[in-house]
Amino acid sequence: MPGSMGQLRAVVVLLLLGASTVRMGVSGGQISGGADINLGHRLASWAPAMHIKANLSDITSIRSFFEFRTLDPEGTIFYGDTKDGRDWFVLSLRGGIPEMQIGKADILTSITGGPRLNDGVWHKLELRSEVNFVILEVDDKAALVVGLDSKEAETEMTGHIRLALGGLLVDKKRLFNPFNPLMDGCIKGGHWLNLSTPWNTDPTWESSPCFSEITRGSHFSGQGQAMFNTSDLPALQSQEKGISIEVNGSWKGTLLTLQGLGFQFSLTSDKAYEASKEGVEKDSLGLHEPSRLTFTILQHSLTINGKTQYEDQTQDLFSHWKEGILLSFGGVPGQNEDSHPLHGCLESIRIQGQHIDLDNAIYKHPSISSHSCPAKAVDNQS
Ligand SMILES: *[C@@H]1O[C@H](CO)[C@@H](O)[C@H](O)[C@H]1NC(C)=O
Ligand SMILES: *[C@@H]1O[C@H](CO)[C@@H](O)[C@H](O)[C@H]1NC(C)=O
Ligand SMILES: *[C@@H]1O[C@H](CO)[C@@H](O)[C@H](O)[C@H]1NC(C)=O
Ligand SMILES: *[C@@H]1O[C@H](CO)[C@@H](O)[C@H](O)[C@H]1NC(C)=O
Repeated sequence: MPGSMGQLRAVVVLLLLGASTVRMGVSGGQISGGADINLGHRLASWAPAMHIKANLSDITSIRSFFEFRTLDPEGTIFYGDTKDGRDWFVLSLRGGIPEMQIGKADILTSITGGPRLNDGVWHKLELRSEVNFVILEVDDKAALVVGLDSKEAETEMTGHIRLALGGLLVDKKRLFNPFNPLMDGCIKGGHWLNLSTPWNTDPTWESSPCFSEITRGSHFSGQGQAMFNTSDLPALQSQEKGISIEVNGSWKGTLLTLQGLGFQFSLTSDKAYEASKEGVEKDSLGLHEPSRLTFTILQHSLTINGKTQYEDQTQDLFSHWKEGILLSFGGVPGQNEDSHPLHGCLESIRIQGQHIDLDNAIYKHPSISSHSCPAKAVDNQS
């Protein structure tokens, strides 16, 4: 037995080394524009996941097309500019619907429309320019057409063109209509102005594989947390009802932690929990079945599905919530070892009945997919 443990450990070490070598290969700086590209797994940033620069004189086609799949309602997809960002273009989603924003000479414009794209299905997107028009096609149908003309716009085709995926190369202050840049989405089969050279990647981003099939929810792989300041979350409405946090999904590990000065409560798995002023964690049940729970914060106590789990008359939890303590999903902040990090899919998180989007967290670990979980493998045994 000790021998096989040793072998197992050696295999694990090799696997880890192997995995990091592979990742180094990608994060070493370049990726093909035609690769499967997961725009998710990013730290909150406006910087693109990847970008490319080419001479305008070398451009033989003004058409880009790719397949795109997401369940995320908001975020950056594709960016392009010329004249070092003086003329720029960005395609994003807002409320699941495509939006184009263009800055050119003295014009700043924003146009939203077309079909909802955040349905978890692959869509073919095509962007092209035709004289003074920019056209977005979705699944071979024109979705957005923007006409632009300006006396000040120069049409010379000299200098560089830059393209980027998952972020901008100009200051976000230049946007006409700001949005949350994080996009949990995947791109494949990209053709970008017929460029064949590799793209440069953001050194903080590691290209990770896309799940083959996705389902709605937030996926935690046990590597990190998403944290909110409770003062940014829905407020108390009724003292009697308290503040409710409803979660459903399939998971194991530490679901959430409330942490303030001299106060910490962690909820581990769907039944086990640990509450203490010192924040020492003890128990974890390896439950991984679909579950649903309602965690309620009352003035001096915390309940799970109506049962009191913690009570302290000296704590005013409503004031803590209003003033702003940390609510962390997926582990215990500052305690990565032995904190039973969360594995699994949180299908829905609702606070006071409002859906919570992990892209709005003050910190979100890049390993978390905020809008997609792997779909369960189809059972083909019978
Ligand atoms: C662009 O063209 C210039 C000169 O024509 C050349 O030096 C440069 O390497 C080219 N850049 C790219 C990205 O092809
Ligand atoms: C794109 O590139 C391929 C190969 O380099 C070439 O055969 C094709 O004509 C190009 N298409 C356009 C529209 O320039
Ligand atoms: C989880 O909760 C969401 C929102 O309340 C709901 O739409 C979904 O159907 C629930 N899923 C399950 C499996 O109960
Ligand atoms: C939450 O935000 C409030 C208001 O900005 C601030 O006073 C408080 O210190 C923050 N709490 C944490 C835990 O960062």
